[in-house]
Amino acid sequence: MRRFILFLALIAAGPFLRAQSVTEAEEAKAARMQWFADAKLGIFIHWGIYSRGDWSESWAFHNGRVSMADYFAQEKDFTAAKYDPAEWVRIIKESGARYTVITSKHHDGFALWDTKAGEVSAVRSSAAGRDVLTPFVDEVRRQGGLKLGLYYSLIDWPREDYPNVFRAGPARYNIHEEPERWAHFLDFNSAQLRELEVAYHPDLYWFDGDWEFSSEEWDAPGIVSMLRASNPDVIINSRIQGNGDYDTPELGVPVIKPASRWWETCMTINDSWGFRKQDRNSKAAQTVLTMLVDCMSKGGNLLLDIGPRADGTIPQEEVDVLKELGRWISKHEEAVYGTRAGIPPGHVMGYTTLNKAGDILYVYLPYAPTEVVEIQGIKSRVKKVRVVGNGAELKVRLYNDIDWSEVPGAYFIEVPATVLDHRMTVLAVELEEPLKLYRGSGQVISFNE
Ligand code: GLC
Repeated sequence: MRRFILFLALIAAGPFLRAQSVTEAEEAKAARMQWFADAKLGIFIHWGIYSRGDWSESWAFHNGRVSMADYFAQEKDFTAAKYDPAEWVRIIKESGARYTVITSKHHDGFALWDTKAGEVSAVRSSAAGRDVLTPFVDEVRRQGGLKLGLYYSLIDWPREDYPNVFRAGPARYNIHEEPERWAHFLDFNSAQLRELEVAYHPDLYWFDGDWEFSSEEWDAPGIVSMLRASNPDVIINSRIQGNGDYDTPELGVPVIKPASRWWETCMTINDSWGFRKQDRNSKAAQTVLTMLVDCMSKGGNLLLDIGPRADGTIPQEEVDVLKELGRWISKHEEAVYGTRAGIPPGHVMGYTTLNKAGDILYVYLPYAPTEVVEIQGIKSRVKKVRVVGNGAELKVRLYNDIDWSEVPGAYFIEVPATVLDHRMTVLAVELEEPLKLYRGSGQVISFNE
């Protein structure tokens, strides 16, 4: 009988126990993801034989814009002659980024490191004739302050044991008809990933190209568990058929706050991932900054791409954008690192984030206000408003704070031109308690004095 009661008690407690273990797993993940959530800005690097600048990375031969032979002839121009990894890392750090992700291998199969698993690498098949990944990783570690991410393409179009090669045209073979051939390719991918893991032990893997096969076909869970067995703290993006940790919208900041808790928008500075000679469509520093703040306000990161040339030099327009981001971020540090998503639109004209405790609302003004900035629908009392990176305390007035109404009053903050940052001014709205919002549509009178 006693056993029976215990059994009933366990059944009753079941959902609770399950819920608890789910939350614990979520908490453990949150701890693992913390550096990523706090980082806000990462710098992406696309570097490979395509960096000579005539054609797009890998896609050029896949889409038939150039023959495979001409595409691979670019190997002779990948010299890395002026490659200065210490300078790369300095420039990246100066941007304010807290992590960097480099293409260890793109869809063309050209590996930047001395891979033993395959034939195609900077060592064996380029004018550089040397491993160009290790010196970068060494510099990242030596200078510190940056987490290391490795981009790895699951696709390797040129390989004979990879099924697809050209977009138009038949596949080389069908993986279900020739499972050994496919298994051979998967072994190659695992071997390369093991090499990367052993040699570099990165903080993050950035997979790409998963769309050509399913999770099961790639053995994505197998890859992920292999990497996690070696490094339980590793962060993996979602482009491994959803088996990773965070989402990667591309070339566009989400219009509404994504449902997923962790995400990162990857973004080119011009229109290309790798260096392209004819691409002059560089985004201005102001544009990139706006995108960064937009991402932050919706709880995400910006992974901003640079495309060094085949000789290892980074185009000046890109360096300039990174420097300008760095200037703005270092001035506004407290409103960047460690913040979290802000409040929904409608309360204030500008982007917002919150500090971890939730009692400072940061308001980013991508325009110069005319005298005042209004904040409405804030139930928590405002203690004071100051200008981040400047220290000036601003005058605040509260209007329509009516005691019979549940609609909170509206705050009007006076913002004189003298406190403005020429790119984006940030106000720290300090509250007496963690932020509470009013989200209604007004109240009619029920009482008056
Ligand atoms: C895309 C492309 C690729 C680029 C990547 C970066 O998936 O295949 O060329 O490297 O996005 O996000």
